[in-house]
Amino acid sequence: MTQTGPVLGIETSCDETGIALFDGDRVDGDSGLLAHALYSQIDMHAEYGGVVPELASRDHMRKLPLMIEQMLKECGQTADHISALAYTAGPGLVGALMVGGAVAAGLSAAWDVPLIPVHHMEGHLLAVMLEDDAPVFPFVALLVSGGHTLLVDVQAPGRYKILGQTLDDAVGEAFDKTAKLLGLGYPGGPALAKLAQTGNPETIRLPRPMVNRPGLDFSFSGLKTAVYTTLMELGNDEACHADLARAFEEAVVETLQIKCRRSMEQTGAGALVVAGGVGANQRLRAGLQELADKHGFTVHYPRPEYCTDNGAMIAHAGWLRRHQPQTSRSVIAKARWSLEDLEAI
Ligand code: KG4
Ligand code: ZN
Repeated sequence: MTQTGPVLGIETSCDETGIALFDGDRVDGDSGLLAHALYSQIDMHAEYGGVVPELASRDHMRKLPLMIEQMLKECGQTADHISALAYTAGPGLVGALMVGGAVAAGLSAAWDVPLIPVHHMEGHLLAVMLEDDAPVFPFVALLVSGGHTLLVDVQAPGRYKILGQTLDDAVGEAFDKTAKLLGLGYPGGPALAKLAQTGNPETIRLPRPMVNRPGLDFSFSGLKTAVYTTLMELGNDEACHADLARAFEEAVVETLQIKCRRSMEQTGAGALVVAGGVGANQRLRAGLQELADKHGFTVHYPRPEYCTDNGAMIAHAGWLRRHQPQTSRSVIAKARWSLEDLEAI
């Protein structure tokens, strides 16, 4: 069994097949990242207006073995070099997780190396450590994707406290559903953001959900309903769609700003890390930067390709947890899994 060497990470929790090789003892690579590859299923799911779980699992199964073979060939590594297999064990679509887990378990048996289950959200919130301007611990992480909206107090790798989370729709989900109401394609976030650029922010004002209550939880389903109601009132006047998109974006950004400000005050942290697909939103980035400048903290993002789902964050988190492998090769696949249930590293 190889004791040192890169960890091969596998991500299949939703609609991206991601793989990577990470070795924290190697400083000659890109922060220890030796190789990575990503295949997005978005085009396949777009036809259905959202992710179809069964199709996601099948496509991961089709792509994963070939992608691993090709990545190893391209970076000149062989099975002998790999020290462990890390895979996303949740939270996510169980069928899709099972594919990544089964491939990881099979390779770990064939190559006689340990098998490491990784929490998808831990992958996201530690991905910023791959950047040159990584913040020091502790920091607050805002995770905003199609499946999650979380504010996390990150004391150290493995030590997490959930400060707030969504009680219903995730913020990315709200973007996608609102975009659908406005007749835009999937995924709706980027399309809605583009339409909002031409909208007038003064015409329509939507509610800022849950900002008048204390605490750090979110709720975005009412905002989507407010868009629907406004759309019904306006009739199908397409000229108003851009204004409505802008009003929606303004409401989301201000809500996130308010909750981020509260969490920075509550924890006294000096840095905010933002990860997840919605972190690509330019108006959100500008809004959080404005907040940071005003309140004297810094904001950090993983580079765009490691902000959305990817294998690099799983290989990296797997490497950090390389001393905590599974005791059997039974695949773990959890639809739900709290960050607070993780062991300290
Ligand atoms: O992290 P991610 O790629 O996948 C997971 O959900 O795990 O996030 C995808 C989400 C989608 O809901 C998409 O609409 C949203 O991120 N998104 C955006 C933007 N780019 C992606 N939302 C708002 N503005 C954007 N520019
Ligand atoms: Zn994700």
